[in-house]
Amino acid sequence: MTQILHSYPFDTKLLRTNPKYKFNPCIDALAPAASIRLAEKAKTLAAGGQTIFDLTIGEPDFDTPASIKEAAIRAISRNNTHYVNGRGILPLRERIAAKLREENGIACAPENILVTPGAKSAIYVAVRTLIGAGDEAIVLDPSWVSYGSIIQASGGIVRSVELPYDDGHRINLTKLEAARSDRCRLLIVNSPNNPTGRMLNSGEAQAIADFASRHKLYVVADEIYEKIAFDGRPHISLGAIPEIADCVITVNGLSKSAAMTGWRVGYLCADAELVDKMYMLYQHMLTCISGFAQEAAVVAFDCAGEIEAMRAAYERRRNLFVESLRNVPGVVCRVPEGTFYSWAYFDHPAMTSAQICDFLLEEARVASVPGEAYGLGGAHCVRFSLATSENLLQEAAKRIGVAVKKVMAQETPKLAIPGHGSEKSFRRSAPYPSRPHRRTLSDLSR
Ligand SMILES: Cc1ncc(COP(=O)(O)O)c(C=O)c1O
Repeated sequence: MTQILHSYPFDTKLLRTNPKYKFNPCIDALAPAASIRLAEKAKTLAAGGQTIFDLTIGEPDFDTPASIKEAAIRAISRNNTHYVNGRGILPLRERIAAKLREENGIACAPENILVTPGAKSAIYVAVRTLIGAGDEAIVLDPSWVSYGSIIQASGGIVRSVELPYDDGHRINLTKLEAARSDRCRLLIVNSPNNPTGRMLNSGEAQAIADFASRHKLYVVADEIYEKIAFDGRPHISLGAIPEIADCVITVNGLSKSAAMTGWRVGYLCADAELVDKMYMLYQHMLTCISGFAQEAAVVAFDCAGEIEAMRAAYERRRNLFVESLRNVPGVVCRVPEGTFYSWAYFDHPAMTSAQICDFLLEEARVASVPGEAYGLGGAHCVRFSLATSENLLQEAAKRIGVAVKKVMAQETPKLAIPGHGSEKSFRRSAPYPSRPHRRTLSDLSR
């Protein structure tokens, strides 16, 4: 149930054998993100002339709103091309602090803010500041691919808490308690969640707050998908809960909400003393973010209309894609509460999620990401990105349905599963054991 994914000093299997010169073992042992294999394979097939329905993409398919781009062009014309304040230009930190106070209920001022090159570096700087060799951090599983690697790069130990599909990936306090030890320093929580699309409810948020304050843990609250919430569901910021307000590092940015992935503007908000400490590391690592990108980012906070239009488009796509997938026999797809991902459970115990994704690519020409890339809690699950057009999603869902039905209609279907040896039966062979506590599809609420 609770298990250590990576333990300090490192996973020796990944180390280079007989190296002439040695690397830092924590870095040497980093594995590539398991989420990119299928995306690369899809690109290769597409380059070979095949039509591929690529649902692996983790970034908005929209362009950055025009007013943001114009602000950057104006700033460049004014020669805002030099170093700027490393913590972030004051107008941007003021704007971020005002947003966090007004929208998220987080008490903060510009001195609590550090502007970073994307949310990813905010997480990196936070983890690196709080975790040293042998310290432990709790990661909820399934979760975004980089958390574990960032902890590992810091010399830390990942305590992975598996939250399975058949329990709705809900926060489980008993499991959290079992995963914690005296070496535990922090917990990473992501809501809305990549890959599951789940959002924390108030009971879960309070349970996390009680757990963190009881054990004096820091909490990294990754809220990068905050603006992509559906059905009017309220986003809960852990940093607004009084008993843990001092030990939450709220991470957010403009990559997903304002379609600004390439601009690299993210930020974190934390206790001022901790921000000062993180800034020490930041100074020696990053110096600052381009001043013109920061000037443009200030304007992004006035783009509520454009941001809402993108959110509404994701919601429409979610509705049509999930509805189509739910008609596919053997596929369970809960309605994602946020993000631009749909997260489906394939009731084919004989196949790993990687095999399912390979099959969908070969048979349906649909590229997707295997759930196991996000941890054991993603077993038998597949992540489909909704960051593409409605037409493409409709066609992709149709193709998935045809492919899966075709297989199920056969008595003893034989499918070539690339990368997994010769032909394997889709339903009968069991090259990988299914999880013992896994319930059947009929037990799951659709
Ligand atoms: C959960 C999560 N956090 C953080 C990031 C990184 O965001 P950024 O591009 O702002 O670094 C991603 C990107 O995919 C993500 O999915």
